[in-house]
This record gives sequence, C-alpha cells and structure tokens, in this order.
Amino acid sequence: MSRPPAPTLTVRQARGLSGEISVPGDKSLSHRAVLFSALADGTTVITGFLPGEDCVCTMRALQAMGCVIEADSHTRLVVHGIDGKLRPPLEPLDCGNSGTAMRLLAGVLAGQPFASRLIGDPSLSGRPMKRIIDPLRLMGAKIEGQGKKLTAPLDIQGSPLTGIEYTLPVASAQLKSCLLLAGLFANGTTSVTEKTPSRDHTERLLAHFHAPPTIDLNPDGEGKTIRVRGGTRLHGRDFAVPGDFSSAAFWIAAAAAMPGADLMVTNLGLNGTRTGLLSVLLRMGACITESIADSSCEPFGKVRVYGRKLRGTKISGAEIANVIDELPIIAVLGAVAEGDTEIRDAHELRVKETDRIAAMATNLRAFGVTVTEHDDGMTVHGGSKLTGAKVGSFGDHRIAMACAILGLFAKGETTITETACIATSYPTFQDDLAKIATYHEGGLASFLSGR
Ligand code: S3P
Repeated sequence: MSRPPAPTLTVRQARGLSGEISVPGDKSLSHRAVLFSALADGTTVITGFLPGEDCVCTMRALQAMGCVIEADSHTRLVVHGIDGKLRPPLEPLDCGNSGTAMRLLAGVLAGQPFASRLIGDPSLSGRPMKRIIDPLRLMGAKIEGQGKKLTAPLDIQGSPLTGIEYTLPVASAQLKSCLLLAGLFANGTTSVTEKTPSRDHTERLLAHFHAPPTIDLNPDGEGKTIRVRGGTRLHGRDFAVPGDFSSAAFWIAAAAAMPGADLMVTNLGLNGTRTGLLSVLLRMGACITESIADSSCEPFGKVRVYGRKLRGTKISGAEIANVIDELPIIAVLGAVAEGDTEIRDAHELRVKETDRIAAMATNLRAFGVTVTEHDDGMTVHGGSKLTGAKVGSFGDHRIAMACAILGLFAKGETTITETACIATSYPTFQDDLAKIATYHEGGLASFLSGR
C-alpha cells in the first residue's frame, strides 16, 4: 500500500526518465463504472478501480443509498446492483473535491422519490452548478443551489421528470452525463446535443451495461446527439478500468520533452476523446508511438515515448475539450519548448478545481517563465532559463503534479506546498515518479526528503 501524498513535495532537476510504468485506473471511468453498476441489476466486478478520493466519494454516496459494494482490494470492487432502487440517504452526500461525483449524482437524484443534499469541499462549493440546474429544472427537477450562482450545497427534492431536447451550451462531459442519467429516470426520451465532442465514457459504459443510447451525428456535421429512453434498465457486467490517460499525461509529457528519455506506459486508456495530448505533442515535434490492444468498449494499449527538444504550438477550438485536463501540463511543455505555446478557447479552465489559468501563470512565473495571460488561456514563452521555485498547489491536484514535472526541468530544487490534493486522482504519483526518474548526484535523496 502506498503512502498518502506528502503535504509538501520536493523535486530536483532530473537527469533522465526511463522504464515501463502503468498508472492507476481512469478517474472518469471509475466514477461511471461504480455508479452504473450500482444502478444496474446483478453483480459487477470492477477491476482497476481508482482508489482516489474523488471516486471513493461516488462509491460512498452509493453505499449510503443502499448499494452493497465490497472492496476486497483497493482496486477491485464487487458491486451488488440495486436495479435503480436507491434508498433515501440519511445524511448529506459528500462529493469532496469532485465535480464529476456531484454533477453525475445530481442527475441520478433529481428523479428519485426522495430528498437528498449534495455537499462538497470549499473548491467544489465554488464551482458552477447552474449549468446542470437549469436543464434539470426544464425536466421538472426541484433542485436548489446557493446564491445567484446556484453553487453547492445542492438540495434536491426528488420529483417526476420529463425528457427534454437540450443543446449543451458548454462542451462538458459532466453536464452531458448528468442529463443522460436524469433521462434514464424521466418519462419519454431525453436528447442531448453536443456541438463539440467531449469525452464519451458515459455513452460507451451505458452500452457496456446493456443500455446503449442512440447516437446520431448532427445534420450540420458538427457534433452529435445522444438519446436515452426513460425507464431503460442497466444490467451488471464486469468491467476492467484501464490506466488514466490524464495521469499518464504527466509522464508522457515529461519524457517527450526530456532529450534521451525512453518511457513505455502500459495498460493505458486510449479513448480518442481523451488522447488529444498525443496530437499536441506530435505537433511539438515529439517522438511517440501508440498501440491499441483492444477497443471493444474503452480502447486501451501502450504508449512509448522518446525524449527530444520540442517546439511551441497553438491549442484552441474543438481540441480544447479533448485536452481539458492536460492543459496545465501543456503549459509546462510550453515552458520547456522552444518558441511560444498558445492556449485559447479554454475559459473552462477558470472553473476547474481552481482557476487553472491564473494558477499556472503564477507558478510558471515563479520558475522564471514569461507568460501572457488571456481571458481564455495563456501564451507561454518557451526558452527561459528555469530555476527551481517554491510554489503552491492552489489545492488542485493537476497544478501540483504539473509543477512537480516542471521541477524536473528546473535548475536546483522545487517545492510544491499543499500536495495532499494529489490523492484525489493519483495517490501513487510520488512512488511512480521515484520509479522512472533518475537524478544528478544527490537528487533522489533530496526528492525523498519531501515525503
Ligand atoms: C470529467 C469531465 C471533465 C474533466 C473532469 C472529468 C468527467 O469536466 O475536466 O476531470 O469525468 O466527465 P467537464 O465535463 O466539466 O469539462
């Protein structure tokens, strides 16, 4: 069993990155696998479950509503499905730091014949929930948030729902999934149109649990429309969660930008709605091979990366949704590449676990990087001399990990404070770093002192 992430992480400039690694299970898929199997009938064995705090929140919420889930190891769950018949929770359901937990559970709870309350930590309690509340109310949901922005805690008075036709105003898989889940408990058909593709795990896993949605490409060629029929039942079926591409992204990016590195990542989720970082890296001049072993439900396989000097690129438009969780590490790539890297159309970054544009701009500057901040992104001017820095995580796991990677490229020592948040998505981040990084003399000892 790995140790919990240290509250402070110290990293030194690395000499190389090499070897073979597999990362913990995919966060998005772990949430959905435990949720859908709980709602299904029969028993489902989930392997590769991510025991990160975010997914554990979803699991505990389901247990609190009567679902029996045996965790015979941290990553193997036996879920005894309750065939859609949730019990009223006796206490508020705590979603911790997890937007996915809160938004997906809200969709399920809106149509239940009981009241419930969803709560979260201060970061989650500041994140936009109006985006789910507005369409859920159109379906007939009785759901209240706090203040004008309708933030959490969310109070849901379960009520009968009716399907709607809804076009997503923002490319968000959480919003899409919330409405599709509500649609399973609504009368009639619920139809969700997305103009820009977002991750499609909900669509794929509904099909895996024998409840395939209908999916049509939009007549104007932009995006697709997904439809579910109310009353559709899910049926339990074992599921193996592959490694999380967004966790592997830290190693893939680091290895790609470090001349001489040679890294293989195995058992890795390679769903094309998630792997946009690979295209970004190829544009930056990276040397990467990808091989898909199986794509029957969720594609997975291997990625091999050889390090070399990279050059800047531009990331914008429809590509943003595909790399949404990788933008902090892409900003780091911009810092170590030659030339400018411009990130645009990424307003959503401002409402993640923290404002990731402001957080990355602040931290990159602390390393000596020149950054121009835009409303919808940033331009990172590569090529500056990088010096180790002391930076905060802003309570955001991906900011903490992205800055740890930048520390591998910076002269001297880097300290990241408040790194306990790494446990939300990648509890073994530090152990995995220790497995693949080699240091200049004295570096490893210094790194270990941060634990
Ligand atoms: C997720 C969707 C994304 C992503 C988040 C996980 C999901 O959020 O940033 O980490 O599991 O559906 P949005 O849907 O809000 O973009």
